[in-house]
Amino acid sequence: MQNDSGRRKFLKSFLSVGAAIPFLSSPPPYMAKNPIRKKGKQSLILTSRGKGGNWGEKVLTNGWQAYEKTGDMMDGVIGGANVVELDPTDMSVGYGGLPNEDGVVQLDSSVMHGPTYNAGAVGALEHIKTASKIARLVMERSDHVMLVGEGALDFALAHGFKKENLLTEEARVRWLQWKENLSDSDDWFPRKDGDYKREIRQTGTINVLGIDENGDIFGVTTTSGLSYKIPGRVGDSPIIGAGLYVDNDVGACGATGRGEAVMKICGSFLVVENMRRGMSPKEAIENACKRIVDHNHGKVNFNDQFTALNKDGECYRGQIRGYGKGAGPEYSIATKDGVETLRGGSFLK
Ligand code: GLY
Repeated sequence: MQNDSGRRKFLKSFLSVGAAIPFLSSPPPYMAKNPIRKKGKQSLILTSRGKGGNWGEKVLTNGWQAYEKTGDMMDGVIGGANVVELDPTDMSVGYGGLPNEDGVVQLDSSVMHGPTYNAGAVGALEHIKTASKIARLVMERSDHVMLVGEGALDFALAHGFKKENLLTEEARVRWLQWKENLSDSDDWFPRKDGDYKREIRQTGTINVLGIDENGDIFGVTTTSGLSYKIPGRVGDSPIIGAGLYVDNDVGACGATGRGEAVMKICGSFLVVENMRRGMSPKEAIENACKRIVDHNHGKVNFNDQFTALNKDGECYRGQIRGYGKGAGPEYSIATKDGVETLRGGSFLK
């Protein structure tokens, strides 16, 4: 094969610019008033997904049905997360997620159960599509909070889950493309007709938070993590207090985006503690975004988002950076009246 290094260098320099500036399409109109629970009676489910891919509606419709079926909001939030975990078209969560640098899909997830202040998590889980269900099993069927790698897989198999291939053909092709363009001094050559625009590394994740009619609070975060990560890398999603935190007396928060930055500030815990001290979800999230920006001396070339609700059912999603026109990230809320999508805010415009 002919060495194509000149072309590869050009593509790499183009990508290094493109990778820093994800493009947001123009925001949809502001759709609905942020729901506040009426005297502690209104159940609601909140997710970090919006209109893109119609995920907000799909997640919350399934989550709400699961909640109505059993009356257990833990089923509601996990039922919502399962929609994305099982759908191969979402390449940032569960089946179809982009793999690690070896081409292996490794999933992270955590769950929290407000009424019992209990938690469960899995990290670097392979071969099981629904990492959130295994995180729940860790919480409900073991005396531990977190299992990782082979131990997490063995635990899932012991509970009757079957090993499956999580790497879809589309994810394999994108991983190979990334690998072939990593270095000009290795022996991997890219296809001449490759679509090099797709090589932006991602940390897509989903948070689903719920509050039931008793005012009890539940949450789940699930992801395939940073694409092309070093094998064994675990992000914020399965770390209690980083990618997820629920305090039944106060509220809940989940994080998406660059997990390393969220972990370093105990991001979801910080947001919940801010709410405990009287901040609204919006103020609490802005404060956490500011903490990340400050700790990085104002130089933030990544993004993080927090999605939170308080005990009163006030919800918000905010992020560090507003790309494009500074628009905030979407989030969706389900109540008995249906699903609404809203747009939050950005700390840096
Ligand atoms: N927030 C997902 C990750 O960093 O893995």
